[in-house]
Amino acid sequence: MATSLFSCLYVMLIILTPSNYFHLSSAANTTEYEICRKPFQCGFIKDLSYPFYDGQNRPAYCGYPGFQLDCSKPKPQISVGTSSEKYYLRAVSPSTYAFSVSRADYWDTLCPSILSNTSIDFSLFNYEDVDLNITLYYRCSPTSSKSAMNQFSCTDMDNNTSIGYLMTKNLDPRLNIIPQKTCKAKIFVPAFQSAVLGINITDGASLMAALHNGFGLRWAAENELCSICRGSGGECGYNISTSKFICYCPDYQSYGSKCNGYNQKKMPTIAKIIEIQRKMIMVSLWCIQTNPFNRPTISRVVEMLEGKLESLSCPPIQLLQYPGWSSQTLQL
Ligand SMILES: *[C@@H]1O[C@H](CO)[C@@H](O)[C@H](O)[C@H]1NC(C)=O
Ligand SMILES: *[C@@H]1O[C@H](CO)[C@@H](O)[C@H](O)[C@H]1NC(C)=O
Ligand SMILES: *[C@@H]1O[C@H](CO)[C@@H](O)[C@H](O)[C@H]1NC(C)=O
Ligand SMILES: *[C@@H]1O[C@H](CO)[C@@H](O)[C@H](O)[C@H]1NC(C)=O
Ligand SMILES: *[C@@H]1O[C@H](CO)[C@@H](O)[C@H](O)[C@H]1NC(C)=O
Ligand SMILES: *[C@@H]1O[C@H](CO)[C@@H](O)[C@H](O)[C@H]1NC(C)=O
Ligand SMILES: *[C@@H]1O[C@H](CO)[C@@H](O)[C@H](O)[C@H]1NC(C)=O
Repeated sequence: MATSLFSCLYVMLIILTPSNYFHLSSAANTTEYEICRKPFQCGFIKDLSYPFYDGQNRPAYCGYPGFQLDCSKPKPQISVGTSSEKYYLRAVSPSTYAFSVSRADYWDTLCPSILSNTSIDFSLFNYEDVDLNITLYYRCSPTSSKSAMNQFSCTDMDNNTSIGYLMTKNLDPRLNIIPQKTCKAKIFVPAFQSAVLGINITDGASLMAALHNGFGLRWAAENELCSICRGSGGECGYNISTSKFICYCPDYQSYGSKCNGYNQKKMPTIAKIIEIQRKMIMVSLWCIQTNPFNRPTISRVVEMLEGKLESLSCPPIQLLQYPGWSSQTLQL
């Protein structure tokens, strides 16, 4: 039953190897995981992450196609339409997969040079319930000589002036004109319902505020897979060669949806390190007992190291006075 001094210490060393306690990663490297984990800033919007990327500070493999931002101007831009219209990114709410955009061409005019509807790419985005349309009519024939409250005028590149009308759900049709057939173009621009309902037609600032605030969109960029990936400790991304979602993991591997077999092992706390040191001293004292019958068995060593510190008792103290102990140590 008695253990040799050597095997006693050997078992202790095996159990207490750093990898068993510290779980050090073998090769630290800058991988997709490290790169994609870093949030980035675009214009005034901070802490952006998947599915957004800009192709510069954050590579395309950290985002999802269709979510590239243009961060070169003070107002961050994104294309959410089926054509090339520009939209300003106004705010992002990652927890609800929602963000708000405003049309860049309506930022400081009601009369953009090219008239186009808001044509959202519904494969990636959808309107939020809180959106409401502002409808704008252009190049209209005046229906009466008296100008209406919801009337505005536009001057084109040839200096020709034409009349337009603006209509929203809340404008009283008895006080405002709804010109249907007399206008050559009709455009709708969504805005947040709260802002639309606050539009005072005689106060242009309230209309511009509604256009600047923009409207809400919800995104669909493999949201479910990304949630599973992050839940397993990974970071979401996109494999450009397979055109599929990818989950980058702290083990420097990538997976289809989640980090396989990876469980987040925490680094030891100071208290844990001190406890390990105390155990080592205690077990060492038991191991170097000169009387072999006082030495613990291998299974007892394992038990002592894996058990609670409080359950360890001090060995008999006569060991240091024993004459033969130093020569025995040297024999190791
Ligand atoms: C670390 O990254 C570099 C470039 O990204 C790569 O060439 C190298 O093989 C990587 N090393 C390891 C150990 O992964
Ligand atoms: C605005 O109007 C267009 C055309 O009628 C419609 O397709 C779109 O869903 C409307 N947008 C909102 C937010 O109601
Ligand atoms: C606009 O102005 C040009 C000349 O500047 C004229 O030829 C044209 O007919 C005008 N268009 C309309 C719709 O009034
Ligand atoms: C339009 O009017 C402005 C000033 O009223 C003038 O400077 C400009 O040359 C005009 N443009 C055209 C195309 O007539
Ligand atoms: C914009 O959409 C509305 C509703 O679908 C349509 O009636 C209108 O013709 C469109 N306008 C343009 C310029 O395409
Ligand atoms: C709308 O704006 C005008 C001018 O700014 C102001 O006199 C009026 O009281 C406002 N109406 C409402 C309902 O706030
Ligand atoms: C993307 O997919 C290809 C083909 O399956 C694979 O070889 C490559 O390693 C993947 N990229 C990443 C970053 O995992």
